[in-house]
Amino acid sequence: MWCCLPVFGIALLMGASAARSAWAQPTNGGKIVGGPYVVNATPTSATLMWMVQTGEASHGFQWEHKAPALHAERIHMTGLQPGTVQNYQAFPGEAGKGSFKTPPVRTAPFEFVVYGDTRTRHDVHRAVIAGILKYSQPDFVVQTGDLVEDARDHAQWPIFFDAERELLRKAAYYPALGNHEFNARNYYDFMEARSYYSFDWGSAHLIVLNSNIGSIGPDKIARDAEWEEQTRWLEADLKNSQGARFRFIFAHHPPMTAVKSRQGQNQHMAALEPLFRKYRVAGAFFGHDHNYQHYWKEGIHYFVSGGGGAPLYDVDAPPAGITVKTAKTENFMVVKVNGAKARVEVFKPNGEKLDSAELGN
Ligand SMILES: [Fe+2]
Repeated sequence: MWCCLPVFGIALLMGASAARSAWAQPTNGGKIVGGPYVVNATPTSATLMWMVQTGEASHGFQWEHKAPALHAERIHMTGLQPGTVQNYQAFPGEAGKGSFKTPPVRTAPFEFVVYGDTRTRHDVHRAVIAGILKYSQPDFVVQTGDLVEDARDHAQWPIFFDAERELLRKAAYYPALGNHEFNARNYYDFMEARSYYSFDWGSAHLIVLNSNIGSIGPDKIARDAEWEEQTRWLEADLKNSQGARFRFIFAHHPPMTAVKSRQGQNQHMAALEPLFRKYRVAGAFFGHDHNYQHYWKEGIHYFVSGGGGAPLYDVDAPPAGITVKTAKTENFMVVKVNGAKARVEVFKPNGEKLDSAELGN
């Protein structure tokens, strides 16, 4: 049986089989410069998006810099079945086709990818995406922040979307806000993003925090209030998700680091560690430091995976007593959850195994 739902004036076709199909009307004018991609996937809904350039402009102090006029187009899909593959055609042609999986509500094996800091060295960013596509078949993707060098610069987004194209059209995307997003409207528009959020995928509860304490409000009073509110939300969310088999945390800024020049910088994140312990978080994943770091501290695995393209940082001062592995290299992480087991495998873009771990408590 087929049904046709009007969604913001655009028709969405849905089949009754496990693999469903959707199509959107072609955009009127402009050039597609990103996507298709899917964000905010829930068991029964998701947002299908693509980026359109309608022109470009230069301005007086930097004439050689041409900024594209960009906007995101989207359809909101509703009435989806949990744990199913959704096929779509976002715009005409092969490039407009893609698929994603909706989160299952029941326990079933699943796989996701974590990586971050893709903001510069676009050839490296492409190599990381190629590695992910070769060595993983993710049900969904978590990006730990710093998608681009400066989210306010329109010129950088088509480059980001071009590098990510083949991954974005295969799995739903869940980003965290990095400092290089500058809390910019572009990030919220183009990712249909929220400051912080959580979602369930089968037996796991995943929490994505906004660790950018320096930009979450216009002044210190507002920033402190916002951080307190997020911390209260975090504790309530952790408390309410104790029925999940696994709780995973994601954010841009790590609570600890092996980069000597950055040690002690993220005290607000270190201050969350007692909550992670109290509510039995299994794994916490961060970015910001452009390398790979793995810590085992009081029953929790902490990872830093900021090797998506930004210039690498030395791992010159691994913290004593908690360090499992550090490496100055590009990387991505694959997490496979099956019943009571969650296995992490970390790779260099060429597929060389960097690290592995079993999560659980
Ligand atoms: Fe960063």
